[in-house]
Amino acid sequence: MDLNTEIKKRRTFAIISHPDAGKTTLTEKFLLFGGAIQVAGAVKSNKIKKTATSDFLEIEKQRGISVATSVMAFDYKGLRINILDTPGHKDFAEDTFRTLTAVDSVILVIDSVKGVEEQTLKLMEVCRMRNTPVMVFINKMDSEGKDTFDLLDEVEKQLSIHTIPLTWPIGQGSRFHGVYNIHRQNLNLFEGNKSQKSNDIINIADVFDSEIEKYVPEKLVEKLREDIHLISEVYETLDVNDYLDGNVAPVFFGSAINNFGVKELLDTFCELAPSPRARQASERIVEPTETKLTGFVFKIHANLDPNHRDRIAFLRICSGTFERNKFYYHVRQEKKLRFPSPASFMGNAKSIIEEAFPGDVVGLYDSGNFKIGDTMTEGEILQFKGIPSFSPEIFREVVNRDPFKTKQLDKGVRQLTEEGVAQMFIQQQGNKKIIGTVGELQFDVIKFRLEHEYGAKCTFSPLNYHKACWITTQDKASLENFILRKSDHMAYDKENNPVFFADSEWTLRTAMETFPALTFHTSSEFKN
Ligand code: G4P
Repeated sequence: MDLNTEIKKRRTFAIISHPDAGKTTLTEKFLLFGGAIQVAGAVKSNKIKKTATSDFLEIEKQRGISVATSVMAFDYKGLRINILDTPGHKDFAEDTFRTLTAVDSVILVIDSVKGVEEQTLKLMEVCRMRNTPVMVFINKMDSEGKDTFDLLDEVEKQLSIHTIPLTWPIGQGSRFHGVYNIHRQNLNLFEGNKSQKSNDIINIADVFDSEIEKYVPEKLVEKLREDIHLISEVYETLDVNDYLDGNVAPVFFGSAINNFGVKELLDTFCELAPSPRARQASERIVEPTETKLTGFVFKIHANLDPNHRDRIAFLRICSGTFERNKFYYHVRQEKKLRFPSPASFMGNAKSIIEEAFPGDVVGLYDSGNFKIGDTMTEGEILQFKGIPSFSPEIFREVVNRDPFKTKQLDKGVRQLTEEGVAQMFIQQQGNKKIIGTVGELQFDVIKFRLEHEYGAKCTFSPLNYHKACWITTQDKASLENFILRKSDHMAYDKENNPVFFADSEWTLRTAMETFPALTFHTSSEFKN
């Protein structure tokens, strides 16, 4: 098969949601439709249960599960679907943000009872930053949730994206009868069945077809007709380009656990969602159809087995064909590397592959060569854009508890931050190491892993910073002046960019006013 055909076949996306909205359940139903798993329950929820904040065994288990489910590929209707999994726990949000740089589109799951939640807002912000096409699945329609039109309004207002419903629920809660597919004009009526795939689709001419009355109670038919009429007046018909540009989100309703509305979503997704498209690198735009390989590392996972220190680096292929055992160029390290056992992930199994194509994710065994954001090419010097670090929210200084293990501690902290577990900043006075994270849980993970994988002991002493801001400017003198004046609040990130630690929103605002020539960034996206 030629490269072009392989590219057109691929749909690489992530399912994102606030924890508990139903992401794992929906993923599992997709895998059932794709035949990648045979029974429900095969995909373990990759979230750390809320009660387990300090349960290290649970953290270890989680790490094991998330390697296995990092990418789930399956074939469906002649397409190769790559689902990139994202951790549900909010303390691992940074990991999710990075995964979003490796997908071509997303499906956002919203709980019909709870509506738009905090984590949904953050995730959508990242999607909007890169104009990622979004489809929305409003889940749990079998529960007594919010009014359907109100939910759409909430999504539009809070997520600042236009919505267009492509299916519509027939009833809700205990009276939920299935969904009407506005796009294809058919009815999908399901029995509540938690494990079976159902193909019971009833084609009708339109919502006024009397055929519908055979299947749906009169009152619900009436309501459905009214709703569809209203929709036709209020919502525009979908222009696929608006979806592809990230301006409009098609919306589906259903109940993942009961398999209501999932097939409609998957089928329309296969039809409309983009195959891999051109990607912006700092130097130029890279087309997927280019024959030479390019790709970038968006995730690094440490091996669970302490006897094997290697890690798995996840490479998203952007162009060309990846081949096993071929030499590729590691741009940052300026060296050639080849991979004898690159892994692909089918369903929940991992296997060695001979080749892979744009949109695919390949797991590369790594003994410490990779950092998140690294680019691989066939010799060209290229850096893919947009793998940002966000300003952490919790800051702590690393305090060494075993002076004989200083080297191990340094190495451990460096490698863990390269994996993206947390961010590290160095404060030059006294060579202080500051770790910044988005959640408390990371500190538990770091401490535990430093001890068990590197034999180093440390504690963390809390620092009362509000935000870390990267600074850019054309005015060198002003920056030097700022650094001098704020020296006790200045540090450097791993690429030696100056970072200002603001104590509060007020200090940050004052700094901005006093030094108008400087720009303060709360994400490192500016670097690209
Ligand atoms: P997440 O990955 O987004 O965190 O959510 P997950 O799929 O784990 O689902 C969260 C909870 O919501 C689960 O219940 C799941 O069974 C339930 N759920 C998923 N889809 C639906 C739906 O369509 N309707 C209803 N009513 N519930 C749904 P749980 O009690 O937390 O876990 P479990 O014991 O059922 O696995």
